[in-house]
Amino acid sequence: MTNESLRHTLEEKQPLLEFRGVDTYYGSLHILKSVDYRVGEGEIVALLGANGAGKTTTMKTILGIVRPRSGQVLFEGKRIDGEQTGRIVEAGIAPVPEGRRVFPRLTVLDNLKMGAWTRKDGQVKQDMDRVYDLFPRLAERKNQQAGTLSGGEQQMLAIGRALMARPRLMIMDEPSMGLSPILTERVFDTVVEINKQGTTIFMVEQNAYMALQVAVRGYVLQTGEVVLADTAPNLLASDMVRKAYLGET
Ligand SMILES: Nc1ncnc2c1ncn2[C@@H]1O[C@H](COP(=O)(O)OP(=O)(O)OP(=O)(O)O)[C@@H](O)[C@H]1O
Ligand SMILES: [Mg+2]
Repeated sequence: MTNESLRHTLEEKQPLLEFRGVDTYYGSLHILKSVDYRVGEGEIVALLGANGAGKTTTMKTILGIVRPRSGQVLFEGKRIDGEQTGRIVEAGIAPVPEGRRVFPRLTVLDNLKMGAWTRKDGQVKQDMDRVYDLFPRLAERKNQQAGTLSGGEQQMLAIGRALMARPRLMIMDEPSMGLSPILTERVFDTVVEINKQGTTIFMVEQNAYMALQVAVRGYVLQTGEVVLADTAPNLLASDMVRKAYLGET
């Protein structure tokens, strides 16, 4: 065995997704500053941070929409920074974008089919049934134009569409945004259910309390820097999170 392969064997289990010292810019604006994240296979990991901290930029960097100026993004141990977005999605990463973006003129059914475009197996129908089981409302409205769904229904559709890709990693940008407390709870229950069925989840959330209830670990991003990285219970107990994100004084 070479030294190199021995080193790999001895190293701890490789994370599914990893950021190593990632710096991103919009023009001359330095946004992410030497950011490190590790998301392990099977985990739910939360990313917390105030408005403008760089959470959506993180998601765009994973998808190759924003390119790091330095550092690396790895998926299953392979570099994906520099890849085309389509290739990254094909590799098994499905986004639930900010603001529940769906194709407004397409029906619910066609939106779900779009989610499955990377699939080459014959099990798309089963997964469609699974989405309808999770969200019976979508089944009732499958021939309705997506743009006419309520906000909460569009969020369900955005999640359903991501599920149709059968992703290894689902990245969610504020899944509870604009949802009622009851729907928020339903979305979080769904996140847990999806995770139990084998999908790893990296989730941006303003609702820190809910996010840290379902996540195993989390990161706190402050003006582009990771200022805290810890287990969910430790984050829930930390002064910084309690003051900044849980509204305690
Ligand atoms: N295309 C762009 N051009 C220039 N600046 C941008 C661009 N997109 C985002 N920014 C800036 O980068 C910073 C980080 O934005 P980002 O969208 O990542 O924040 P966020 O953490 O997702 O915030 P929010 O909670 O409000 O969604 C912000 O200051 C924002 O104004
Ligand atoms: Mg954002």
